[in-house]
Amino acid sequence: MSIDHNLTAAIGASAEDRAGSYAVMHVLAATVIVALFSYIFTQRRGRKKVSQKSQESCVHMPRTLLTSLVTPRQLETAIAEQHNCKPVIPFVPYKWPLALDLLKRQYYILFSDNTFERLTPFFDLAGTCRIHLFGNTGYFTTDPENIEAILYTRFDDYGLGSRRLAFFSLLGEGIFGQDGPAWKRSRELIRHQFVRVQKQIPEAFTPLVDELVSGIAEAAVDEQVDLKPLMYQFTLATTTMLLFGEPHSSMAKEERDAVRDNFDYAAFGCGIRVRLADVAWLYNPAKYRNACRANDFGEEAAAEKYAFIIDFFHLVRNPVILERLLEEIASVPTGGDITRDQIQRLPFLRCWLNETLRLYPTLPLNLRSANKPTVLPRGGGSDGRSPVLLPKGAGITHSVYHLHRLESIYGPDSRVYRPQRWEDGELIRKARLGAGYVDFNAGPRLCLGKDFALMEASYAIVRVLQAYPSIRLALGTPN
Ligand SMILES: *[C@@H]1O[C@H](CO)[C@@H](O)[C@H](O)[C@H]1NC(C)=O
Repeated sequence: MSIDHNLTAAIGASAEDRAGSYAVMHVLAATVIVALFSYIFTQRRGRKKVSQKSQESCVHMPRTLLTSLVTPRQLETAIAEQHNCKPVIPFVPYKWPLALDLLKRQYYILFSDNTFERLTPFFDLAGTCRIHLFGNTGYFTTDPENIEAILYTRFDDYGLGSRRLAFFSLLGEGIFGQDGPAWKRSRELIRHQFVRVQKQIPEAFTPLVDELVSGIAEAAVDEQVDLKPLMYQFTLATTTMLLFGEPHSSMAKEERDAVRDNFDYAAFGCGIRVRLADVAWLYNPAKYRNACRANDFGEEAAAEKYAFIIDFFHLVRNPVILERLLEEIASVPTGGDITRDQIQRLPFLRCWLNETLRLYPTLPLNLRSANKPTVLPRGGGSDGRSPVLLPKGAGITHSVYHLHRLESIYGPDSRVYRPQRWEDGELIRKARLGAGYVDFNAGPRLCLGKDFALMEASYAIVRVLQAYPSIRLALGTPN
C-alpha cells in the first residue's frame, strides 16, 4: 500500500462543529455563566460573612463601634471613590421574571453544537457587561485589561467560588478544584513532576509517536484514515505517561476503552453540575460517580486532546501552510531522534501552533469570583473606560475564545485561520501575552503542562509529516 504518498485524512465535520460537539468542550465552556448565577445568588450571603469576619479579626475593638465604623457597603463605596469607579452600563437583556430565560438559554447552549460560537451574542455586547438574576449582578468580559487583572495583577482578589463543588467528584481534591494554600501546595507537587518529566522530553515521546505513525498506516482503508481516534489515543497515552509514569497503550484494550468512556462521561457530568453550582449535589447519578472514581485526571487532558486534533484539521485543509511546514522541517533528521533544540528552530511551526491556540485556546471560558471587594480596570461609565468596583462574591466570566477573536487586536480577518499573522513578531507584542493573548491561561495559574503540550504537539506533527508528506484532506470532508 503506497500509503505515504496518497494518504488522506478524514476528520469528520468542520473542526469548529466538531470541537463544539464534544462533551468535554462543554465542560470547558463550562458556561460557567450559570455558575455565575449562583455566585450572584450567594453574593448577599458573602456580604454577611464579611461583616462577621471583620469583627473577628478586630476583637480588641468594641463590636458595635466597629460595625458602625465600616460596613462592607461603606468599604466598597470608599474603594469605588478612591479608584473613581463607575457602574457598567451595558447588560444582557432578558424577558422572564428573575431572568430565568437566560438560565434556559444557557442549558440549551450546553446541549447544542458549537457552544462557544453560540455565546457570541453575550460577549459581543460590550467589552464588559452586566448580567442580572434574582435581582443580583454578575459580569462578562472580553477586555484584555480586565483579563490581565483577573489572571495576574489582582490574582489574589479572586477565587473559584462554587466551581469547586461542581468539579469536586471528577477532580477530587485535585488542583483544578483548589484555591489558596491547598492549591499552592498541589501546584508545587505537580510542578516537580513536570520538571522531572521535562528532562526526558521529547525523547520520552518516541515510542508513543512511533505507535501513532504506524497506527495511521494500519488504520487506513482505501488510503483514507480517520485521524481523530488515533490522535485521541495518542493524547491519552502521553497524558497517562505523564501522570502515572505508564503509557495508556500499555494497558489492556478493555481497560483503555473504559478510561476513555469514563473520561468523557465524567466530563459531561461536570458540565451539568457547574451550571447547578451551589446545588450541584442534586445531579449525582451513580453512573457519574463511578465514572469519576475511575479517572483521576481532568481539564488539562481534555483541553489538550482537542487542540491537537484541530491542529491537524487546519493543517490538512491548508495546502499552502502544509507546504511551508514541510519546507521548514526538511532540516530535521528523520528516524525519530529529534531534540528540543531542533524543535525550537522551527519558527513557522510555532506560528502555526500559536494560531491554533488563538482560535482554540486551552481554557476558552473561565469564571472567577471576587473574594474581596476589588477593582476592574475598565468597563465603567458611558464610554466603558472607567474602572469598575466588583463587590465581594460577584462572579465574573471572561471569554478567551472571544478575546482571541477581537478585531481590535487581531484585525478584520480575526476569525480566519492564518498562521502567517504571527510571523514578524509584531502581533504578540501588540496583543501582550497574558492580556490579549492567553494561550494556556496566565499568571500564577499558568498551565504547568504548557511546555509539555507544545513539545508533544510539535514532535508528533514533525514525525507524522516526515512519514506522510502528502497527507491531505479526504475528498468529501466538509471544509
Ligand atoms: C507564540 O506564543 C508564545 C506564547 O505562548 C509567545 O511567547 C511567542 O512569542 C509567540 N510566537 C510568535 C511568533 O508570535
